[in-house]
Amino acid sequence: MKVLLATQKPFAAKAVEGIVKILTEAGHEVVKLEKYAEQSDLVAAVADVDAIIIRSDKVTAEVISAAPKLKIVVRAGAGYDNVDLSAATAAKVVVMNTPGQNSNAVAELALGLMIFMARTHFTPATGSELQGKRLGVQAYGNVGRLVGQKAKALGMKVTALDPFLTDEQIVAAGAEPVHSVEELYAASDYLSIHIPALPATLRSIGYDLLMKMPKGATVVNTARKEVIDEDGLLKALSEREDLKYVTDVMPDNYDELTKKFGYRVFATPKKMGAQTSEANVNAGLAAARQIADFFATGNTKFQVNK
Ligand code: 3PG
Repeated sequence: MKVLLATQKPFAAKAVEGIVKILTEAGHEVVKLEKYAEQSDLVAAVADVDAIIIRSDKVTAEVISAAPKLKIVVRAGAGYDNVDLSAATAAKVVVMNTPGQNSNAVAELALGLMIFMARTHFTPATGSELQGKRLGVQAYGNVGRLVGQKAKALGMKVTALDPFLTDEQIVAAGAEPVHSVEELYAASDYLSIHIPALPATLRSIGYDLLMKMPKGATVVNTARKEVIDEDGLLKALSEREDLKYVTDVMPDNYDELTKKFGYRVFATPKKMGAQTSEANVNAGLAAARQIADFFATGNTKFQVNK
């Protein structure tokens, strides 16, 4: 089978080598499309491929219809909002992710962003410490739990909201449960977002929630920009001089935000949460193994469009 590794933001060389090794040893051919400039480059590259490994690359309905031999797409990572699942399902293409494989890298970045904001962008201005502060974790899945556990080691008090977990499960994973998003925001000096981008979560975090946060609060978004209501964020930051927003997923209105709010807002230039050598190897090799296994045995364990 022909497998396309399509990564607009390439994996570390070690991960690419591992992916190629696993797939070629399983009898497949690997072709690479890295750092491509246009979406049309991806559309053109899929014409004769049977499988695709992607990161945040957009597998749209156009990509799927341009790939008549396509059988499987593996998103090497967690969030698969960049894949048109209905188009894939209609074309009988299996879509998988590699849950948990890059979580530690994202969790470490979330903590790093908190420290960066607490220390005023690493300037000599007097900052503050994370110890003793309250951290709210919105969604206590693979990344959220790691953020919670690492924050506890720093002396933070961790609460979490997760509608898919029982109170007992949240407590067992190291956090105090809360039962509403309002309660979570109201009790968080730092609020770390780990919800996926779904129809129900799009623009779900806006003015009303942000205005509930305690004085001096910081929102940390290493999830997706689409879950933020950017007009509401702008309004809340305008009305609350103490509020801060830091993110690994740059808002569309970032220029306006930095112009108006300076050090109170920061976004990484390009999403870098999962961009460590370790996470690249973990997620990339998992994707390669899942494809090899799918073609060898039909295993669809990580399928997300069942
Ligand atoms: C994910 O959903 O796994 C993360 O957002 C990482 O995305 P990336 O592979 O584009 O860095």
